[in-house]
Amino acid sequence: MTELPMVFPDADLTKPVTIYEVGPRDGLQNESALIPVEIKEELIRRLLAAGLPVVEATSFVHPTWVPQLADAEELMSRLGDLGRDLPVLVPNERGLDRALELGCRHVAIFGSATETFARKNLNRSLDEQFAMFEPVVRRAREAGLDVRAYVSMCFGDPWEGAVPIDQVVGVGKRLFDLGASQLSLGDTIGVATAGQVTALVDAFARAGMTRGDLALHFHDTYGQALSNVQAGLRAGVTTYDASAGGLGGCPYAKSATGNLATEDLVWFLTGLGVDHGVDLTSLVETSTWLASHLGRPSPSAVVRALQPVDNAHPGG
Ligand code: HMG
Ligand code: MG
Repeated sequence: MTELPMVFPDADLTKPVTIYEVGPRDGLQNESALIPVEIKEELIRRLLAAGLPVVEATSFVHPTWVPQLADAEELMSRLGDLGRDLPVLVPNERGLDRALELGCRHVAIFGSATETFARKNLNRSLDEQFAMFEPVVRRAREAGLDVRAYVSMCFGDPWEGAVPIDQVVGVGKRLFDLGASQLSLGDTIGVATAGQVTALVDAFARAGMTRGDLALHFHDTYGQALSNVQAGLRAGVTTYDASAGGLGGCPYAKSATGNLATEDLVWFLTGLGVDHGVDLTSLVETSTWLASHLGRPSPSAVVRALQPVDNAHPGG
């Protein structure tokens, strides 16, 4: 395997970064062929062993809306105590009940900054989504759970086009103020560019949120994700969502492709001398192993460059 990148620290970027791995959830939710639960379990165990501090495991959504994750109960039961510390998505009280039954300690709600995506992804209007999430967050907090909030379509929407920054800040802040500990700003369709990231983070700061309250969630559709991470780092955000091997997408957002690949993020941060705690070799081996199960090569440039030749998927 090639040596890790040469390190050229940036004096302005000295804070460690938390990589929030969403591969088992965002990465797999879009896969049309059902993946056996034991593969999902092994994926999660390997990602944790590679040093990822947070691994989002699955979603307690309606099984007919996302059939790939209909095995959420079985997966979490197989993971046992380990699974209880991994965040899971819950859209509503029914989802929360399912998560509570399994002893989950971290849940995430996921709202939309736009009317159209709220309807397509949640079957609710923009306003109705808050009524759906309010009892989820209240009950989760009463039960001692930690709650993350996502807001999607922060940088553009395939049906509505540009999304005004004030609208994104208004929705995001309202979701966060329900009682979340972190707000993840989603570029669901990967259209963001660096200046837009700076502008949005600044707007949230002006609205009273600290940089520590925010995470950034980039899909890499237009190849801008790493440049957007750099803008986020310069704006003071230290949590980045990424998906091992660059898998991902949203079944309810046309043109949503893979998430920022965790390996690409790790390579980039390592080169900048930013601490992240993840072992790149194990991660590449894991994504190469997963690609062989999915039957196609990983879209991650770093995985393709570093994958062990013997295990590389044919054509990869
Ligand atoms: P709905 O059809 O409006 O549900 O779906 P409902 O509240 O009308 O209930 C209808 C029936 O479904 C009821 O059963 C409920 O019990 C059942 P009945 O009484 O008729 O027998 N039901 C459930 N069953 C199991 N688990 C549940 C559940 N909820 C209701 N949780 C709903 C509304 C929100 C459930 C649906 O729209 C849904 O599941 N949506 C999820 C879509 C999704 O998962 N999208 C991908 C994740 S978001 C994303 O990827 C973006 C992100 O990565 C950030 C970014 O990139 O921007 C996070
Ligand atoms: Mg996503």
